[in-house]
Formats: sequence, structure tokens, C-alpha cells
Amino acid sequence: MLLVPFVLVAYGVLYALAYSIPPLPESWQRPLQEALSRDSLDSWLEREEDIAIDRLLDNVAPGGRNVRDAAPGTVIASPSRHHPNYYYQWVRDAAITTSTLVDLYAEDPYSFLSSDLVPILDAYTVLQYKLQHSNNPSGSFDDLSGLGEPKFEADGSPFTGSWGRPQRDGPALRALTLISYLKAYNETHSSLWDSDFGDEWFRPLYDADMPADSIIKADLEYVSHYWNASGFDLWEEVEGLHFFTAMVQARALREGAKLAALFEDPGAAAWYALQARKLEEELLPKFWSERNGHLVETLDSPRGGLDCGLLLGALHGTERNSTATERFAPYSDEVLVSLLALARDQRYRFPINSAPSDSSNAESEFSLLQGTGVGRYPEDVYDGYGTSPRGGNPWFLCTSSVAETLFRTVEHAVAVEQLPISSRGMPFWDALMENSSTSLEPGRTYKPTDPEFDEVMARLRRAGDAFLVVVKKHTDAEGRLSEQFDRWNGYERGAEDLTWSYGAFLQAVRARQRL
Ligand code: NOJ
Ligand code: NOJ
Repeated sequence: MLLVPFVLVAYGVLYALAYSIPPLPESWQRPLQEALSRDSLDSWLEREEDIAIDRLLDNVAPGGRNVRDAAPGTVIASPSRHHPNYYYQWVRDAAITTSTLVDLYAEDPYSFLSSDLVPILDAYTVLQYKLQHSNNPSGSFDDLSGLGEPKFEADGSPFTGSWGRPQRDGPALRALTLISYLKAYNETHSSLWDSDFGDEWFRPLYDADMPADSIIKADLEYVSHYWNASGFDLWEEVEGLHFFTAMVQARALREGAKLAALFEDPGAAAWYALQARKLEEELLPKFWSERNGHLVETLDSPRGGLDCGLLLGALHGTERNSTATERFAPYSDEVLVSLLALARDQRYRFPINSAPSDSSNAESEFSLLQGTGVGRYPEDVYDGYGTSPRGGNPWFLCTSSVAETLFRTVEHAVAVEQLPISSRGMPFWDALMENSSTSLEPGRTYKPTDPEFDEVMARLRRAGDAFLVVVKKHTDAEGRLSEQFDRWNGYERGAEDLTWSYGAFLQAVRARQRL
């Protein structure tokens, strides 16, 4: 009974307040609005992270709800079996998303989640051996050509239909995933020789004396012998030499050289290191176009070269917490100006991006780096089901990769305690600092003690968040992510529950958490 008068009084007070308090001064409104919207983004990200892990695991055997009939270790690209049929294991999608699972395992090997992950990671490893040794339309194991086969049936047998093959990024990505599993495993066990899996658990992964039986070594052999040969791009459409492929190959060879040395395989270590250096010095520089002012995804291609594969190549082709400066890393001038050029193109290309910005998008101060739905590349005509004269759509995994690139730029600058600004990167830095009283000078290296440093870091984070807000906006009520969202109305399109969409989202959120 006491409640009624109380409520009335409280209501009265609120009413009076609402009419008597003058509106907040302008200068307060923004930070407040930002704090509120960040809060809602934070809580959404937290929920969506759990959903993404669950939905990703639904697509992975053993255990996944959507893959009851798949061979253990299979990661299907999507449960969609027609319109489009993505019920296959792509070596690329599987390696990329499994590497996120390895990260989750490495974080806490004794967690509840990890007890589910270990059988998956082991089954993935065993299955990759089988895929490597299959005779398939790309070739066979004898000369390693079969390792370039891009996709397999869910039961582990070769896919024999016509396809854009070979694709030479797969073995590099798989080697990287298995190397990180080996490392994570090693860190939690006093010795690899003394493991729960019995003696010499690592032997199938790397054995200097039995190259044919070493999964990682076979992939490294493939990469070291074929990096200079043309193949299909990550989007499976054009043949040539590609930035994404070259970047992940270079990283696989660098890390492979270190691994080989560790496993007392000095000849291989020297060979992988040599090939890494050749690739980095002879091939990689060709992807920078001074004329265009950005990187190009495929050499000698009629396309303009802007492509989300540039961001993915930087993200997957760079060691995460390395303090060494690596060529074309996510934080490099070349990658950041390419990011800007791609985001700008996509912003004007897709009608949904010019819709009045969501009120929860507090980033309107950056006209060029405001949250934008980003697709694969400007000339794309794949609409998720087939070729469309209307053109392509924004993709979840590409939009997430923009956010991750920006977060990793912060992460790196903070780790190395410096932010070098060069004239090549100026278009990006100018766009980032738009409407700020601070401007960055080319040729200067900013330190955390400089007042500019914090402002740049804060702006990079806000810009990254703006892209995650776009992902949030187009995610359905159950938190599901398909491949694309419609360029006109924003609704999800293409293969549903795309494993890679969840993986890329998780990578971006985890990069944000590390800050
Ligand atoms: C399916 C491929 O996976 C995709 O990358 C391509 O764009 C479409 N087919 C259209 O060719
Ligand atoms: C089409 C994409 O272009 C390609 O990169 C991917 O591997 C397959 N779909 C499967 O998700």
C-alpha cells in the first residue's frame, strides 16, 4: 500500500525534473550519448560472442548440430545445402575458423569449452592428413599438387565437380592453424613427449624424418615450392598471384622456418626461411600500387584491386603479438590507406550505407571512417545465390575485418609504444582526425607521452566500433550471421550461419577485448 504514494511522489518528482532541468549543454551530450551507445554495443558484443561460438560449433564435427553426417574434424562452410550449397569443407574457411578455436583453447586449456574443443582439434588434424593424401582434381600427394584442392565433401571425400582450382592459400592457412595448435598444446604440457595422447603426439604434425607423414611439413613443402605459381584467389574467381594468398604463404614460411629449427630440421628451416625472404622481397612489393595509392589484391587483373582480401591478408598474414614491424601488417600505412579507399568505395556503392546513421552510431564525426557495410570488392556481382546484375552486397566477414584491422592498429601501437606517421599513410590519418583540432604530421613518430597519441588511439577504437555497430544492426534477432546483408534493405542474404562470418566476428571482438 505504501508503494502507491511512493510511486506517485517519485513520478511527480521526475515530471518536475523533466520540465525544469534545462537540456544538457552541447558539450556534455556527446560523451553521454557515446557512453550510452558504447554500453549497448558492449553488452550486445558480449551476448553475440557466446552465440557466435555456439553457432560456429554447430557447423563443426564431431558434436555440431548441423553436421551429424559429416566426417569427424569437418568444418562445413554453412549448413545451407541448396540455394546456395555450402555444405562442404573448404580448406580455407576451415583453417581460418579452426584457428579461432585454437585461440579459445589456448586461452584456457582446462575450461569447460576446451574440453569440447580438444576432440574437435584432434579430429581436424587427423582429417587434414586424409585430405592431403587424397587423389583429387587438383592432383595427388606424390608431387603435393593435391594440396591445392580448395573444397571437399562433408564426408571427407574429394569434390569432383568443376571449380576454381587450385587455390594455394589453403595449405598455408592450415599450416598456420596447426602450428598454433602445436604451440598452444606445448605450453600447457610440460613436454610434447609426455602427453595425454601418448608418446610423441606431435609426430604426425612434424617429423623431420618422415615428411610424407607430417601434416604441417607437407603443407610447408607445398607452400615453399608453389608460392610463385598462379592459382585462384580466395573468392575462387580469378587466376593469378594474389595478395591474400602471398601474405598467408609468407607468414606460414616464416613460422614454419622457426618450427623446423625447433624440431631439429635445419635444412628445412633454411629452405623455408629462404623462400619466405624471396616471397617477401620479390613478390610482395608488387602489390603496392603507387599510382592507385593502395594495395591491389591480384596482379595484372582488370579489377581495380581494392578488396577485403587485402585486410584479410594483413590480418591472417601477420603474427599477432609480434613487436617486429612486418610488411603490410594491419597497422601499416599501405593497409590503412587501402582500408580507407575500400570503405569509401563501399559507402557510396551500397544504398544501405547512406541511410541516416543509426542513433547508436556515435561515430558521425568521421565522414569517411563511419561504420559502413563492406563487401568483397567493388566489381563483385555474386549476391549470395548467383550472379546478379544489381551487383554484390556487404559481407559480415569483411565488415568485421575492417574493425579488426583498426583494433589491431591500436594494439600494435600500444605494444611498441610508438605510432610512426608517414606521408604514404596521410590520407588515412587525415580522415581519422577529421574535425579534430589535432593534426598529425608526416614524418613524426608519436609516443604514448605525446598528447596526440591517446586521441588517435581513441579515434581508432571508435572507428572500429562503428563497423561492429553495422554488424550488430544487420544481425537477426537470434544473433545469426549469414554471408551477406542486402545492399538495399540490409536483410541477411546468402548462405545462412556462415562459419566464417562467426569466426571473423569473434576475431574482431577478441581484438577489441585485448585493448
Ligand atoms: C561461388 C563462389 O564460392 C563465389 O566466390 C563466387 O563469387 C560465386 N560462386 C559466383 O561465381
Ligand atoms: C565463397 C567465398 O568467396 C569463398 O571465399 C569461401 O571459401 C566460400 N564461399 C565458402 O564460404
